[in-house]
Amino acid sequence: MMKIAIASDHGGFELKEIVKKHVAERGFEVADLGTNSEESVDYPVYGKACGEAVANGDADCGIVVCGTGIGISIAANKVKGVRCGLCTSVEMAQLTKQHNNANVLALGGRTTAPELALQIVDAWLDTDFEGGRHERRTNMLDEM
Ligand code: RB5
Repeated sequence: MMKIAIASDHGGFELKEIVKKHVAERGFEVADLGTNSEESVDYPVYGKACGEAVANGDADCGIVVCGTGIGISIAANKVKGVRCGLCTSVEMAQLTKQHNNANVLALGGRTTAPELALQIVDAWLDTDFEGGRHERRTNMLDEM
């Protein structure tokens, strides 16, 4: 069973809970790395935790959420081996898998409505990497 690590700060907590329930209902195993309330916390801590879970193989892929998705995606992308894509549309979700083989998806809890966020999650989970010329580029990313 594919395991998804999921993490957020307080700005993404509400959406994280919605996404967590959705992916669990779809049959994925979920590792919730926090945060566990709307009390203010620091998004770099949670982006790093999720990125490391994916990079070290504890999870197959990850989902991170903060207010905009920006800060926590920056944090996740600091972890070597992570390719985190912040998506605000279904098309971006498909393309970040097809072209970037994103192993972490970032969402904005204050900027993307829950219904759209779940469509983005599904599109990202259900789309395959195209490989070919894109693999040369993702290999370049992984060497950075
Ligand atoms: C927290 O207030 C907010 O700055 C954070 O959730 C995120 O949007 C940062 O990029």
